Amino acid sequence: MRTEYNQQPLKIIEGKNREIAIFSTEGKNIDAEVVRSFGDEWLKFHDFSDQVIEECAAEYFDILNDTVVNKNSYALDIGCGTGRWTKYLTQKAGFIEAIDPSNAIFAADNLLGKIENVRLTQASIETIPFNDETFDFAMSVGVLHHIPDTQQAMKDCVKKIKKGGYFYCYLYHNLETRGWWFKTLYNLSNLIRYPVCRLPTPIKKFVCDILAIVIYMPLVLWVRFLVLIGLRSVAHKMPLSAYNNKSFFIIRNDALDKFGTRLEQRFSKKQVISMMQNCGLTDIVISPLSPFYHVTGRKL
Ligand SMILES: C[S@@+](CC[C@H](N)C(=O)[O-])C[C@H]1O[C@@H](n2cnc3c(N)ncnc32)[C@H](O)[C@@H]1O
Repeated sequence: MRTEYNQQPLKIIEGKNREIAIFSTEGKNIDAEVVRSFGDEWLKFHDFSDQVIEECAAEYFDILNDTVVNKNSYALDIGCGTGRWTKYLTQKAGFIEAIDPSNAIFAADNLLGKIENVRLTQASIETIPFNDETFDFAMSVGVLHHIPDTQQAMKDCVKKIKKGGYFYCYLYHNLETRGWWFKTLYNLSNLIRYPVCRLPTPIKKFVCDILAIVIYMPLVLWVRFLVLIGLRSVAHKMPLSAYNNKSFFIIRNDALDKFGTRLEQRFSKKQVISMMQNCGLTDIVISPLSPFYHVTGRKL
């Protein structure tokens, strides 16, 4: 099922569990600083247990079914990070090519251990070393909003999919359904993000841990309290309600993701659908549930 690379790698590194081919990650549509920062982040947060992966995957992949991806699918995970969703996908698809431009690819090698139906490659969206129209299914989870031109990046992903194949992506929403106070909190958090994401890595990690404790945890504990006293519908309207059932490990990771990343873009539902259509995708399904927005489409 797996095909050969369509170009020679710069080099091949012997990872802990498998060989990893390294391709150039240079291009016009990549933020090198964001990639470096994710490499640091994922080398710190890569210890996802199977249980945590399963629990979170149930939310991210509620719109995947056997038609979209199944054991006959040759799949591509673009911007795989630690490989947590690649690992999930190894149970659903036949073979998975997982790529990431950062050093997270080595964390993915650890997490995926001896799993055989996966190959890891260091490359970026612009340098994916496979021919166009190769894959039955491609996904990019939480990646495209960290790229300067999201629409172009999405097109570059979709062109690797065969006609009739499927694309899944998760993109940050622009809080369009949230109230003014929610948006105010978000704007305030952006004021904090601006200096924090520019700190040297060890200080940034430390500051983000503190932010996880002083910003995330009080809000999450408040949500948990509301749920405990039976006010679930009120709790779900609160900021960070999605963390109600998440561990402190996930909260620390997401605090680093949120405050430590220089470039993040946000989209309305209409923009997400329009970007998917501009890539030649049809049968677009956008989940009504958190995390917003995750969406699938079929290539015409
Ligand atoms: C928020 S992380 C998501 C990782 C993984 N998909 C997940 O959800 O756990 C974003 C990932 O996108 C990768 N990335 C950033 N720019 C990229 C690009 N131009 N091409 C491919 N991946 C990129 C980063 O290296 C990082 O691992």
